[in-house]
Amino acid sequence: MSTIQAPKGTYDLLPPDSAVFLAVREAIAAPARRAGYGYVETPGFEHVELFSRGVGESTDIVTKEMYTLTTKGGTQLALRPEGTASVLRAALEGSLHRAGNLPVKLWYSGSYYRYEAPQAGRYRHFSQVGAEALGAEDPMLDAELIILAADAYRALGLRNVRLLLNSLGDRACRPVYRAALQDFLRGLDLDEDTRRRIEINPLRVLDDKRESVQRQLAGAPLITDHLCEACKAYHEQVREQLAAAGVAYEDDPRLVRGLDYYTRTTFEFVHGGLGSQSAVGGGGRYDGLSEMIGGPSLPSVGWALGVDRTVLALRAEGVELPLPAGTDVFAVPLGEEARRTLFAVVTELRRAGVAADFAFGGKGVKNAMKSANRSGARFTLVAGDRDLADAVVQVKDMESGEQTAVPLDGIVAAVKELLA
Ligand code: HAM
Repeated sequence: MSTIQAPKGTYDLLPPDSAVFLAVREAIAAPARRAGYGYVETPGFEHVELFSRGVGESTDIVTKEMYTLTTKGGTQLALRPEGTASVLRAALEGSLHRAGNLPVKLWYSGSYYRYEAPQAGRYRHFSQVGAEALGAEDPMLDAELIILAADAYRALGLRNVRLLLNSLGDRACRPVYRAALQDFLRGLDLDEDTRRRIEINPLRVLDDKRESVQRQLAGAPLITDHLCEACKAYHEQVREQLAAAGVAYEDDPRLVRGLDYYTRTTFEFVHGGLGSQSAVGGGGRYDGLSEMIGGPSLPSVGWALGVDRTVLALRAEGVELPLPAGTDVFAVPLGEEARRTLFAVVTELRRAGVAADFAFGGKGVKNAMKSANRSGARFTLVAGDRDLADAVVQVKDMESGEQTAVPLDGIVAAVKELLA
């Protein structure tokens, strides 16, 4: 029988690389936590309707990429393709917005699922860290989120992340722009599918990657020229705050995101070293989403950064993250009596906060020392019958090779001192 393999478009996180993923999650979350964002966790699946209404009936995510299932009871569920709709649903359901302390600021981290054609940087199961600020319309809040994401990339040591910025307008000006764009697009030479898209979601046509389409889009009307005064002023303030914070951005009037809920501020972080899947993170304002899923008016803004692609970006730039130390101390017992004694010492060391490991499986001293080497421990504790008779443990410095006999009854304190 052949062994079962992971499904297409997925991969496993295994040591030692998995430590990098944890460090990236932590580095992205840290700035948000420091800025008052509280942790939120929502289920891995939701009612299909949440995403079809929230993300949008005409988006690729909903029409092609959602993993849906019908329960035995007949309920239609979907594995979450993104986090924003879920987080907003959870906040509304938990009445966080009624506590009178707006904006409600939340961060999250987890797995997301999209049935996409897998390729480098594009998976069917991937990982995001996100932040959402619910219930405030304030350009400084948009700026805060963008600054937090930029600071996270900076803290990771990434140098080649670019920030693309746009405004998609609001209920007042977007429809006017949409109509102007439709007029323009209807005059182009496009295939049947794209013609249909013009009627349902014309802004997405701007995002068409095909050269034959892009060539025709050269003279397309730009949202920037159609923003109403309120949106223009709002966007100007966001830009001002970014500039004041030293966050470089590029205006990209063609930036359209793949989700329908966006209004006003939209942005994407892209990295040059990732090939076609260059977006490492993205987000924007979604003032109408709450109403779309049956809630009150709750203007909000947020982002999600892709953990997988951020790791790829680090690799592309050759950045080595400082990872937390693994094992500090490794115990190598010689004989049955020493196994019992050193196992007790290891337990005591761990309880005292020292990262300690043990040569399990009763291996010979040669193999046990190999394990000690591989563990990266700074010190190895070795004890045999003679050491036990003298009530000592040999402490070997793995760097210098020097070995000292340390009294067994003071071993924990002595090791802590050596490590300090
Ligand atoms: P998104 O642009 O669809 O936005 O996804 C955000 C990030 O998730 C992308 O920039 C990318 O790094 C990563 N990502 C998306 N799909 C894949 C995939 N198939 N494989 C690997 N990585 C992927 C959202 O999800 C919005 N909820 C962001 C947001 C939050 N907007 C407002 N608040």
